Amino acid sequence: MTTANSGVIEWECPSNIALIKYWGKKEGQIPMNPSLSFTLSESVTNLTMEYSYGRNQTFLTEFLFDGKPNPVFGRKIADYLLAITPILPALRHINLKINSVNTFPHSSGIASSASSFGALALALCSLENMVTGTEFNEVLFYKRASYLARLASGSACRSVFGGFVIWGLMDEVPGSGDEAAVPLTDIHREFRDIRDSILIVSSGTKAISSSKGHELMNRNPFASTRAFQAVNNLKRLITSLTNGELNDFIEIIETEALTLHAMMMTSSPGYFLIIPQTLEIIGKIRKFRADTGLPVGFTLDAGPNVHFIYPHPAEMDVRRFIEKDLTEYCENSRVIHDKIGRGPERKR
Ligand code: PMV
Repeated sequence: MTTANSGVIEWECPSNIALIKYWGKKEGQIPMNPSLSFTLSESVTNLTMEYSYGRNQTFLTEFLFDGKPNPVFGRKIADYLLAITPILPALRHINLKINSVNTFPHSSGIASSASSFGALALALCSLENMVTGTEFNEVLFYKRASYLARLASGSACRSVFGGFVIWGLMDEVPGSGDEAAVPLTDIHREFRDIRDSILIVSSGTKAISSSKGHELMNRNPFASTRAFQAVNNLKRLITSLTNGELNDFIEIIETEALTLHAMMMTSSPGYFLIIPQTLEIIGKIRKFRADTGLPVGFTLDAGPNVHFIYPHPAEMDVRRFIEKDLTEYCENSRVIHDKIGRGPERKR
């Protein structure tokens, strides 16, 4: 059995952007509908976990966010660790010090929970392997990490894989399920180097959190229609990803983005997370597409910032267009140029 009394584990895990949106959940963090995302490469969390055997049950002795104590996040992590102890009994007498650092600012409007909980789940799986001496094969290791990440934040379960990733049961996708995500293979070359330039129109805190938004879906009159639509959109998106149909792809992802926000507006109470600049940018992107014929489009997360999605060959034209016509709508002209990535990496 491989054991060490103390040591350090370090993982880097990227965020992801959903194209088919997870919105609404059932008991036990089970999604109301399957979702699909691609994992980013620049927007990452680097998580360092120092562990040591302790005599008592204290689990999390220190939590640093960007090198500084953060009691609010620390409490959230401590609660999560407590909740998953029955699943990871081997970690009962281990004390942890965690330092979680994002390459993107906390206030940038990029979902940091996906990358940070992805990194945490991966580190916990590495620690479990070390403590128990079990060597999971790679497939099982990532499946377990995805499962653990899901329990913290649904979208995080997709971040432990690179490329395009599906979470939620789909009969058409072998190995898919509600409890953990699976990577989608067989992607046409048109999409293998896809870009996401994130136009930051506001970095403020959201008026309604994602947890509250999911909860409001329980009473949304359109919830069952939405779940049905998501499955259909996902099937169509898989076909376009396999066959390289960029125009279908763009149409589907824009419908998904607008539906996500329509669900917010039709909740009770209804609310908006988009702001006028969001709509200005969407209008300009659609006009740019009509004028140039380039297969570009947008998606939105649960916030006002616009993810400008385009294939690699369109990059020069898109960058010029962003500089000329879109940065004026962004907060401090801020744009994060990201792209599809290979997924997380263990550093130590
Ligand atoms: O993982 P959560 O609970 O933060 O929910 C995220 C939901 C969306 O980001 C809006 C969509 C998605 O599938 O990532």
